[in-house]
Amino acid sequence: MGRQTAAALVVLWLFTAAASAEGDYMKYKDPKQPLKVRVKDLMKRMTLEEKIGQMTQIEREVASPDIMKKYFIGSIVSGGGSVPAPRASPEEWVNMVNGFQNGSLSTRLGIPMIYGIDAIHGHNNVYNATIFPHNVGLGVTRDPEVVKKIGSATALEVRATGISYTFAPCVAVCRDPRWGRCFESYSEDHTIVQSLTEIIPGLQGDIPSDYPKKFPFVNPGEKKVAACAKHFVGDGGTTNGINENNTVIDWNGMLSIHMPAYLDSISKGVSTVMISYSSWNGVKMHANYDLITGYLKNTLKFKGFVISDMRGIDRLSTPERANYTYCVQVGIHAGIDMVMVPDEYVEFIDDLTLLVKKKVIPMSRINDA
Ligand SMILES: *[C@@H]1O[C@H](CO)[C@@H](O)[C@H](O)[C@H]1NC(C)=O
Ligand SMILES: *[C@@H]1O[C@H](CO)[C@@H](O)[C@H](O)[C@H]1NC(C)=O
Ligand SMILES: *[C@@H]1O[C@H](CO)[C@@H](O)[C@H](O)[C@H]1NC(C)=O
Ligand SMILES: *[C@@H]1O[C@H](CO)[C@@H](O)[C@H](O)[C@H]1NC(C)=O
Repeated sequence: MGRQTAAALVVLWLFTAAASAEGDYMKYKDPKQPLKVRVKDLMKRMTLEEKIGQMTQIEREVASPDIMKKYFIGSIVSGGGSVPAPRASPEEWVNMVNGFQNGSLSTRLGIPMIYGIDAIHGHNNVYNATIFPHNVGLGVTRDPEVVKKIGSATALEVRATGISYTFAPCVAVCRDPRWGRCFESYSEDHTIVQSLTEIIPGLQGDIPSDYPKKFPFVNPGEKKVAACAKHFVGDGGTTNGINENNTVIDWNGMLSIHMPAYLDSISKGVSTVMISYSSWNGVKMHANYDLITGYLKNTLKFKGFVISDMRGIDRLSTPERANYTYCVQVGIHAGIDMVMVPDEYVEFIDDLTLLVKKKVIPMSRINDA
């Protein structure tokens, strides 16, 4: 199966959470049809505007059901501290999520919007949600089972709000304790980080034995969420531990220290991978075609979707956003499938649409995303 077909497994799982539209026989919704047939059927029903909208993730504060509908927005994000109200209750979260869902493509095609939240950081949790120790603390347990249980408990609380996606786990290998985000790393030892990727089946569910190997997997019940291995790749290896800086290391070093946890994450069915703000040997990861498309997608055969970090593509021009069209071109070309825009979504959508119409970005890249 191709990447496109496989990525649809995630999307098809998400259908189970959506209200289905009435109307003609929709082949893509029929589980008896072969996956390839379902994907082909769905793709031919979607317009370019809908496909690009699905690649767009916008901030909760600028979103509304009408905007979801007008731009076919695929995803919403709560940025740091972005909550529906101070000390918001589960009910307030559920109502907000339902409102956005009502404006999404779920009404026409049964494709629900995906709400993404950083449940592990705790800065936009439901009031009174359980807060577990951070990764640096979990790392010292050396206990994959306890970390898996934490994934399960977190998934349950997140999903109860209607949210189906969390930006976790961070699989950074912290190579310099001066790095301000070392708390987000399980360890300086990549083998510990690898073993604690057990949080992924905790968040997403255990992969059934008859499920195709290395495919993204989220249990279709109501207790699990899609996970995200981040930040691809080398975020914990920057010079002098300067946050989001340059990781200087040769290919062997990259493969033996920073990459192994991604192989574990993929074999455990992780649905998404987030790109790092950092650079590798001077090249920004958000622009790195060779690592994102060449290595992650083509060599490792990662079949979920690749998401940018918050305004991650903005930094592809200097000063930031100086030429946003260029940022969009380079980021999408590198292989990013969903962009955490998150505010100026009209500009993102217009720029990407124009790049496709001018054939600078091929339609195949949009279909892949
Ligand atoms: C949070 O927990 C406290 C103490 O258990 C309880 O009194 C309060 O009602 C809870 N608030 C919400 C919004 O659930
Ligand atoms: C969303 O739509 C459902 C079904 O039509 C409706 O019951 C619900 O009240 C709507 N929710 C919001 C928040 O608009
Ligand atoms: C790394 O940090 C230095 C010092 O702040 C800065 O001049 C440089 O531009 C940064 N490099 C990258 C790739 O972010
Ligand atoms: C901005 O980037 C686009 C796409 O790469 C390019 O065609 C255009 O010439 C650039 N504009 C300026 C003002 O440099």
